[in-house]
This record gives sequence, structure tokens and C-alpha cells, in this order.
Amino acid sequence: MTDKRARDTAPSGNMPTTTAPPAGLTSRHLLGIEGLNPLEITGLIDRGNVFADIIQGNGQNDGQNSGRFDPPLSEVLRGRTVLNLFFENSTRTRVSFELAAKNLGGSVLNINVAGSSVKKGETLLDTATTLNAMHPHILVVRHNCSGAAQLLSQHVDAAVINAGDGRHEHPTQALLDALTIKRRVGRIEGLRIAICGDIANSRVARSNIHLLSTLGAEIRLVCPATLLPAAIDSMGVEIFTDLEEGIEGVDIVMMLRLQTERMEGTETPSQREYFNLFGLDRNKLMRAAPQALIMHPGPMNRGVEIDSATADDVEKSLIRTQVEIGVAARMACLEALASGEGAA
Ligand code: CP
Repeated sequence: MTDKRARDTAPSGNMPTTTAPPAGLTSRHLLGIEGLNPLEITGLIDRGNVFADIIQGNGQNDGQNSGRFDPPLSEVLRGRTVLNLFFENSTRTRVSFELAAKNLGGSVLNINVAGSSVKKGETLLDTATTLNAMHPHILVVRHNCSGAAQLLSQHVDAAVINAGDGRHEHPTQALLDALTIKRRVGRIEGLRIAICGDIANSRVARSNIHLLSTLGAEIRLVCPATLLPAAIDSMGVEIFTDLEEGIEGVDIVMMLRLQTERMEGTETPSQREYFNLFGLDRNKLMRAAPQALIMHPGPMNRGVEIDSATADDVEKSLIRTQVEIGVAARMACLEALASGEGAA
């Protein structure tokens, strides 16, 4: 970055005392799980675990903070601006990046793409170079085109975080999913994890396959043959086209929504028929291991890929916990990039 502003990395009084240090990344961007080595992945998860302890009230936090800490937990982003640039809708990812940045002492700007000059025909690259001229330190970008985050990273001085690009990757979702599993089960290695639903259109599936298999989980994909991506054979997964067979004995059942915004319209039968065949309910869940846990990145379509009784099962569903842990995982990512050159 041409504008080398002074860094303020002094910890505040709320800084956690547990042992995992800030994660280190070899790249100055976080564009995908595929580009990370196992040490980088575990570094981010371990550091996220420190923040999750505090957010969930297991560390120094007394449980009175509701995700937003004032004073911040750290000053690592003090004097730095995180710019949320979302060309696709988001609730969880955008808000959790905002909370995460504020918890690290940073300033956050949310660009309303619907109200921006994109609507007047400005291109992605022109938008990015325009924003770059205002010297943000970290750019969090979501876009419907696979590769958009990487393209931006080649044209801006800021560190870029991929918050979901088309069908390609959603790396921070996979990191928060892994952290959620690790905190609940205690490990990832050796777990049998079924990722079920619209695999073909899912960046969450792709990032989770890379991450969870890197950490030693056994991954099954469960979906109609029409929702299986072409190059899936090279990813080292087992494939099932029957939900009950696919989740037989698994430890984690991760459900995905039908991403109709990326479909052509002929991939699935009616929603009712899809639920009958591929929707998760208590009866089908009985095929999984007795202690099996349920996950979903959200947003859910109740009655399509999962029914309410299953999604809201307080003993088995980790869906709300995933959202809570998302702030911690994104704090670990922002902190790691803030320590690199891109956000300096
Ligand atoms: N899981 C996820 O990316 O949710 P949002 O689309 O709400 O950000």
C-alpha cells in the first residue's frame, strides 16, 4: 500500500490471555481455503478459538457483552478502515465482519451496492479502483462471479478477503464451521461429515471440502445427480445420491440450501418432492450416528432442505452457534491480515 500509516498493535485490557498467537498468513489476501496450508488453517482456527472463548463468555468476558465489545478486545485495527463491498445479499457475513472489525478497534464502511454507481454501469474494477483511491486497509468483497475477489486483489492496495465469490469459495464460512465443530466435538480429524444438498452451486461446500479434508475428516457429498459439480471426483470425497444412505453413521450432517439464484430451473423436482427425497427431518436423521450434530451455513429454507423441528433442535443443531462463532473466526482473519503488508 502506498499510504503507510502507522500501526497500533497494542493490546487493550480486554485482550484474551489464552495461548494461541495471532495467525500468520503467507499471502496478504484471504481468497480461498485452497490456497492455505494446514498450519495457516489451524492458526486461524486456534486464534478464532481464543476470541470465541471471550464471545461465548468462557474467557475474561463475563457474558454481558453481546458480540460487540467496548472497549474493543484489541487495537490491532485501530486507525484502519475495513470496507464491506457486497454485490450479493448477506446478513450473517456482512454483519459479523462489521462486528469483528469493531472488536479489533477498526472503522467499518458498508458500501450499499444498490445505491452505488454500479447501478449506473460502473464496472467491478472501476468501482474497486475508485474505492482504492480512498485508501481502505482491508476490502471484504462478495460477488456473484467466481474469481471476483482474486481479480480485485490484483488491482487494489488493500488486503482482500473473499466473502463469497459465485460458486467458487467462501473461506471464512469454512473456517467458522470448522471452529464450531472443534469447540463442540473437540476434534475434526477422523470425523465423518456429510455435506448435503445443492453442492454444484455451493461455494460453502467447496471451501468446506478443502478445509475439513485437509484436517483429516472423511467427507461425503449427498445430492441429486443433477446438483453434483463435474470435477468433484478429484476432491477425494465419497458421493451419494440417496440422503439416508449418505448420512448413515455420520457425525455431522451439514445441510445446504437450494441456490435457485444460480440455477437454470431444471435441476430439481418441486420443492415438496425435493424435501421428501433430500430434506432433513427427524426420521431421516436417525440414520446418522446417535450423537450426530446438524449444521447449516444459512440462510435456511425451512421445509425445503430441512424442517423446523430439526433445525431448532437445541441438543443437535449448531446452526445458531455457527453464527455466533462467525464473529470470532472473522476476527482471527482480520487480525491475521492486519499483521501483513496489505493492511499496513
Ligand atoms: N452463510 C452466509 O454466507 O450467510 P449470508 O449470506 O447471510 O452472509
